Amino acid sequence: MPKINRIDDLPGVGPATAEKLIAAGYINVESVAVATPAELMEISEIGEATALKIIQAAREAFDMGFIRGDEFLEKRKAIGRLYTGSKALDELVGGGIETQAITEVYGEYGSGKTQIAHQLAVNVQLPKKEGGLEATAIYIDTEGTFRPERLAQMVTAIGLDPNTILKNIFVARAYSSDHQVLLTEKAEELIKSHNVKLLVIDSLTSKFRGEYTGRSMLAERQQRLGRHLATIHKLADIYDMAVFVTNQVLARPDIFFGDPTAPIGGHILAHQSTARLYLRKSKGGKRIARLVDHPALPEGEAIFKICEEGIRDF
Ligand code: GTP
Ligand code: MG
Repeated sequence: MPKINRIDDLPGVGPATAEKLIAAGYINVESVAVATPAELMEISEIGEATALKIIQAAREAFDMGFIRGDEFLEKRKAIGRLYTGSKALDELVGGGIETQAITEVYGEYGSGKTQIAHQLAVNVQLPKKEGGLEATAIYIDTEGTFRPERLAQMVTAIGLDPNTILKNIFVARAYSSDHQVLLTEKAEELIKSHNVKLLVIDSLTSKFRGEYTGRSMLAERQQRLGRHLATIHKLADIYDMAVFVTNQVLARPDIFFGDPTAPIGGHILAHQSTARLYLRKSKGGKRIARLVDHPALPEGEAIFKICEEGIRDF
């Protein structure tokens, strides 16, 4: 039997069924494996026998995912590091942002989240001795703030050809949270075929936040966001890729209880992202990054700046 990687590899799932399942959030084999026949029947207008057959095949294809401790250690050793452009910032996160992990950066508007994302898309292409990963980047833009001109400026500053660098950044604009989820799912093929080592999602939460308003929808939003992050985490893991996501803060002066500078998404995001950075602006163009609840590193701060050349030490 051919290897089953995607839901349309499952026997009984044609293109039309696959599309309906994906639209309903069943984006991978695991999610189908834990579905009930009734759920699949409702979504995709298939009979019970077919639904059972699909679920059975998904369960058989489901990879248990156990590895030995020594293999786990080997995998950890392979973790790559991507430089940010600022040594202070690299040191704060233990020597550059990690592959096989999600790095989340949150902070108020204009704090530098998008600028760092642009810089990383350049740096990932650099030789390893210069802090790159000799690879390409995928950039999912949900807010329309991707700027090739700004990238060109950063690239020219280090004496490279902007066109060559821009050719190795695959950009997509996400128009809704569904679209964003679909793009990340579809990214797998590109990641495999084009040596992608950086996935940027800028912003991770804005579409979810805009679509799910009000308290009653919060649980559903968190659930979908959690599932989205699980997919992303898995991609980071399998393909030894760095993931960089941005997030806004709840800048709501009307909130008296709770932290008004808390990141959107709350604890689901905290558990899924390996490193979280809180950015803020300070006097004289100074930017301060604070490392927040990291599993292995102490809390601390780094100071950097955003200049013509990009992200640099202050
Ligand atoms: P939101 O997406 O609005 O939440 O903000 P953000 O955190 O993504 O901010 P962004 O990364 O877009 O930072 C914008 C800031 O970067 C600007 O206010 C400038 O201070 C700085 N910046 C952007 N481009 C340049 C540039 O070409 N030169 C210099 N010196 N600074 C720049
Ligand atoms: Mg931004």
